[in-house]
Amino acid sequence: MAGRLAGKVALISGAGSCGPGWGNGRATATLFAREGAKVFAADLNEEAVEETRKTIEEEGNFCATHSCDVTKSDQIKEMVAACIKEFGTVDILHNNVGGSAAGGAMDMDEEIWDRQMDHNLKHVFLVTKEVLPHMVKQHSGSIINMSSTSGLTYGGAFQIAYATTKAAIRRYSQAVAIEFAGRGVRCNTIIPGQLHTPMVEVRLAGQRTGGDVDAIIASRNARIPMGQMGDGFDVAYAAVYFASDESKFVTGSEIVLDGGMSLKCTPLPDDYPQ
Ligand SMILES: NC(=O)c1ccc[n+]([C@@H]2O[C@H](COP(=O)([O-])OP(=O)(O)OC[C@H]3O[C@@H](n4cnc5c(N)ncnc54)[C@H](O)[C@@H]3O)[C@@H](O)[C@H]2O)c1
Repeated sequence: MAGRLAGKVALISGAGSCGPGWGNGRATATLFAREGAKVFAADLNEEAVEETRKTIEEEGNFCATHSCDVTKSDQIKEMVAACIKEFGTVDILHNNVGGSAAGGAMDMDEEIWDRQMDHNLKHVFLVTKEVLPHMVKQHSGSIINMSSTSGLTYGGAFQIAYATTKAAIRRYSQAVAIEFAGRGVRCNTIIPGQLHTPMVEVRLAGQRTGGDVDAIIASRNARIPMGQMGDGFDVAYAAVYFASDESKFVTGSEIVLDGGMSLKCTPLPDDYPQ
């Protein structure tokens, strides 16, 4: 069924991908466009977001791009103003930017902690703050935030700031949902587990297995009861549901997509310090 987002304007942050292939933002932007949305795709990396635009246009759909670092509040203001100028409104806001940094509660540097707060959490507040007046004015809007199963439970790596920010996003979304439910604005959260997006090759393999891509893929797949990682389109299909009027009665809600991983206990590492 195409056209589930017909006539809607969708602003997506991090709509490129950190490497070749389908990151969550690129997959979501592409699926939103397939479903009839006018996509305003923003990213720090101009080349990556241009690749997304090219993919969308090759499929005969519509996408405008914008270069923006969402850790900078002045650039966020410019991004939202540019979307309004281009399309007149924002019906769907998908706050997708985020990513993990290794490190536990005793060894993470303050600087990395602060960067994680900016990269994962603060922009969600800032972009939403900038978009809300437009949604309130039209008495409708859907905000979709990206958490992670790291915000629910231990998933196999000590990432203190990532776990903290992704848990905070869940509660932030619920707080926005109750504050704006009467004004027609919904806010929901997607909670992915381990996905095979380009960041596995680009970042994780270097961090965890000395660059051995097959080893990182095997260890991630092994944690998942369904036997293998999800991908960017698993996120995109959940996002289409939250973005569309099919979820018009749904706010403050969450979809966990993790192949059952959070239903079991992930074992601690062999070298777990005691
Ligand atoms: N990939 C996974 O396994 C996984 C699992 C759970 C949750 N998530 C969440 O999904 C989201 C996307 O993850 P991904 O792996 O697809 O992302 P990714 O690392 O591929 O990044 C997506 C895009 O964000 C852009 N970006 C980075 N910093 C930015 C900034 N400051 N301003 C604007 N754009 C910026 C990058 O240039 C890139 O094009 C994140 O919030 C992540 O925490 C991912």
